[in-house]
Amino acid sequence: MNEDETFTPVERSPGRRQFLELVWAVVLAVLTGQAVSILLKFMRPMQTGRAFGGMVRVGKETDFPAGSVTRSLPGRCYMVSNKGQLTALWQRCTHLGCAVLWVEKDGQFRCQCHGSVYDRQGNPLSGPAPRPLDQFPVSVVGGEVWVDTAAPMEQPQHVSQRS
Ligand code: FES
Repeated sequence: MNEDETFTPVERSPGRRQFLELVWAVVLAVLTGQAVSILLKFMRPMQTGRAFGGMVRVGKETDFPAGSVTRSLPGRCYMVSNKGQLTALWQRCTHLGCAVLWVEKDGQFRCQCHGSVYDRQGNPLSGPAPRPLDQFPVSVVGGEVWVDTAAPMEQPQHVSQRS
């Protein structure tokens, strides 16, 4: 064997190794950033005035003229204005929880699931609904109307109104 011929192992290119390390570092940084972002979003308190399950601003007093029934999507309720009094009726049917719809021409709330019908105060008129629609407490602060969706209240039953 010639002494000039020496064994030299094949070495990987240091450029390739550095490239792979850089790619892994970038991937790890992106994943860490996303995880931190999700964690911060999860820990942030619910925004007041928007989130169902807390105090929800449903509009201004002037948005609910006398005699009107107005749906509030953020409050998941109907704002019913009767003789100067504003009531928030939860849209959830008291039978099995479907959303009721206000039918203006009939002046009634109707549930499409099993046919319950309620009057404009939320009292059941027909169908399987066992009790009136629940209400949320309403407060007016500086002309702004707020509904406390964390505290639904059952209304007393008016059996005599059923057909
Ligand atoms: S859920 Fe409304 S009638 Fe059954």
